[in-house]
Amino acid sequence: MLKKQKKLILTPEQQDSMRRAGRVNAQLMDYLRPHVHAGVTTGKIDQLVSDWTRDHGHVAATLGYQNYPKSCCTSVNEVICHGIPDDYELKDGDIINVDITTIVDGWHGDQSETFMIGEVSEEKRAVMQCAFDCMHLAIDALTPGCRVSLIGETVVPEAHRRGFTVVREYVGHGLGRQFHLDPSIPHFPNRQSRIDRLYPGMCFTVEPMINAGSRYTRSDKSDGWTVRTKDGRPSAQFEHSVLMTEDGPEILTGTQHGPQKGHVFHSAAAVSES
Ligand code: MF3
Ligand code: CO
Ligand code: CO
Repeated sequence: MLKKQKKLILTPEQQDSMRRAGRVNAQLMDYLRPHVHAGVTTGKIDQLVSDWTRDHGHVAATLGYQNYPKSCCTSVNEVICHGIPDDYELKDGDIINVDITTIVDGWHGDQSETFMIGEVSEEKRAVMQCAFDCMHLAIDALTPGCRVSLIGETVVPEAHRRGFTVVREYVGHGLGRQFHLDPSIPHFPNRQSRIDRLYPGMCFTVEPMINAGSRYTRSDKSDGWTVRTKDGRPSAQFEHSVLMTEDGPEILTGTQHGPQKGHVFHSAAAVSES
């Protein structure tokens, strides 16, 4: 193994620090969940993230990261990732990904969930289900020392089978004392991912972005961050932080109240007039 790769392997103590960071981040996600509904602005969600993080003595990793202005990312409908919280009010029929990253004693926890607001289209529900299932299928496929490309080899055929596409420009990443570390974790197989391996003691994210239409992206020139689908059709994402152990992958950001592996998403039924 190369020296560079060895540095990515955490000691048992460091692994416990990452477990703690993941647990705190997941607690924040559980805290946020009931607040994500119609009528709430994405800015309000950011305020909740900011306040909770400070009140618990931690730091939001995105705030000031490469000049990013907020404490989380809120990506609505055709926004793939890096949506900036603002005064947009969530409305019935929206889907929104909330991506949060907390620094706990210097270690990072990183995860996201996509939420349905009221009754959403079948296309949005299905793309969300696909992102969730692809994330879990990919994590479950991993074994100690496996190639990173196993993730893409799992995600791409599953997404295509369902008639959806996989974003390539944005990828998962190693995670630890820094937000974005090696190895890069693409959700499609490429040359480097066929070389890189996931050894016990390594931490990384699995965070597939799935598009209902074409895989192509367009980033917002005016804010420098917001990434949208080129065709304007919806996109969804889920993310967990994962530790590879001698026994296989361990999800560090599992929630108490969020969707668990195998969850089937249902759009809320329209409220009938009576
Ligand atoms: N949380 C995102 C990820 O999963 C990164 C957001 S960086 C930001 O890697 F600057 F846009 F916040
Ligand atoms: Co994230
Ligand atoms: Co991430």
